[in-house]
Amino acid sequence: MASLLLKGGRIIDPAAGRDEVGDVVIEGGRIARVGPAGTLGPAPGGQADRTIDCRGRIVAPGFIDLHVHFREPPVARAASRVGGADLAALPETIETGAAAAVGGGFTTVCAMPNTDPPMDSAEAVAYYIRRGREAGLARVLPVGAMTRGRAGREAADLSAMKAAGAVAFSDDGSDVADAKVFEAVLRRAAAIGAVAICHCEDARLAAGGIVNDGPMTLALGLPGIPSEAETAAVERACRASTVAGCRVHIAHVSTAGAVATVRLAKTEGAPVTAEATPHHLALTHEALRGRESVFKVSPPLRSASDVAAVVEAVRDGTIDCLATDHAPHTAAAKAKGLVAAPPGVIGLESALAVYVRALVEPGVLDWPDLIARLTVHPAHILGLTAGTLAVGAAADVTVIDPDEPWVIDPAHFASRARNCPFAGWKVKGRVKQTLVGGRVVYEDLA
Ligand code: NCD
Ligand code: ZN
Repeated sequence: MASLLLKGGRIIDPAAGRDEVGDVVIEGGRIARVGPAGTLGPAPGGQADRTIDCRGRIVAPGFIDLHVHFREPPVARAASRVGGADLAALPETIETGAAAAVGGGFTTVCAMPNTDPPMDSAEAVAYYIRRGREAGLARVLPVGAMTRGRAGREAADLSAMKAAGAVAFSDDGSDVADAKVFEAVLRRAAAIGAVAICHCEDARLAAGGIVNDGPMTLALGLPGIPSEAETAAVERACRASTVAGCRVHIAHVSTAGAVATVRLAKTEGAPVTAEATPHHLALTHEALRGRESVFKVSPPLRSASDVAAVVEAVRDGTIDCLATDHAPHTAAAKAKGLVAAPPGVIGLESALAVYVRALVEPGVLDWPDLIARLTVHPAHILGLTAGTLAVGAAADVTVIDPDEPWVIDPAHFASRARNCPFAGWKVKGRVKQTLVGGRVVYEDLA
C-alpha cells in the first residue's frame, strides 16, 4: 500500500480547527496520521514510499469549486465526435478542465449543465461522472439542469438526476424567468433535499445589456445591465427559498444590492448561501475601457463600490464561499468583439493567487479563513464528504507556497482556453502539489 509523507508544512484544516506545523501521513489513499513535526514516528511498514518536503509551505485540504463549466456535451461519443460536436473544437473538455482544476489546487469541482445539449437527464449526469473518473484528475461532480432542456418551461427530472449522482441543480447561464416554474423546481428540489444554485438575473431588466450600467455605458456607447437586474432576482430567489423550503445557493454575487439582500435574508432565516468569484473581487468595470472581450462576463464586472461590498460580504461571511465560475470560450468566439463575444472568463489556475491579492494581502481574510472558504464551506453547502484532512478522509490535499512570486501567463495553463482576465499580473501564492485520493495528480515543476 503506497504511503506518502508530507513533512514539516503548516497544516491548515479549518474543518478540524487545525493550524500547526507538522506532518501528514497518507496511506492507501487516505489520511492516516496528522500531527506536530516529529511526533508521528515511521509508517508501520518503515519509511514512506515518498516524502515531500513541505517546509515553508501550507498543507491544506484540496480546494472545492462549486461552479465550473467544462463544455463537453454529456452524450456518448462516436470516435472524436461528441453529440455532433468535434471534441477538438470545444473550448474545454472534462479532461482538460479537470487538468486545469488540479493545476489550481482544486480536487473537487462541480460542473454546470449549460452544455450543448444541456445536462438534464440521468444519462447525461452519468456520462459526466464516467468521463470525470476516466480523466482521473479532479473529482468532477455534475450539476443537473433545473428545467428540461434548460428552457425554463418545466422542471427537469431532478430525482432521476440525483439518483444518477447530480450534486445540485441549476440553469446557470440564465435565470428561470417564469416565477411559477422556478417555484415548482424549488419545491421538487426541497422534496429530495437538493440545493438549487441560482444564476440571479432578471432577464427583462438585463435584456440587450453588454456592460454594467453606469459610466461604462456612456464611455463605450454600449447598453447597460443594471445592478437592479441582479438585486431583483436575488430578492425573488431568497423569497422563493423560504416559500419552498429549498436551500438556494446564489451564484456569482456581483452587486452591493445582492449582498444586502442575502444579508437580510439570512437574518430572517432564509436557507440561502452565496459565492463570489475571483473576477468580481479583483476587477471593476473600468477593466472594459479598452473594449477587450476577455473582460466580458456574466454578471458583468461592476463598480468599485459593488466590489467593496462583495469583498466586505466575503469578510463577514454573508458570502459563504469562493467559486471560480471557470467559463472557457474559444479564441474565435472571444475575437468577435465586446458586443458579440460570449460572456465568461477562465479562473481555475489563477484563482488562488487572485484570492491572495484581493483578500489575504489587504487583510480581509487570513490564510485559515481563505482556505475555509475554499474547502469546508463549499463542502457544507452541498453536503459533500470532502474538504478536511481528518484521519480517515480521502487524501485530497493541496500544498501551497504562500510566498512564491509568479506572473500569470495563460500560455502555461492546462486549460485549453485562454480567456483569462488576469494575464500579466504579478502575483504571489502558488500551488506546488495537488493530491487526489493520495495520488499526486499535479506537481509544479517550474
Ligand atoms: C458562463 C458560461 O460561459 O457558461 N458565463 C459567464 O459569463 N459567467 C455562464 C454563467 O456562469 O452564467
Ligand atoms: Zn451564471
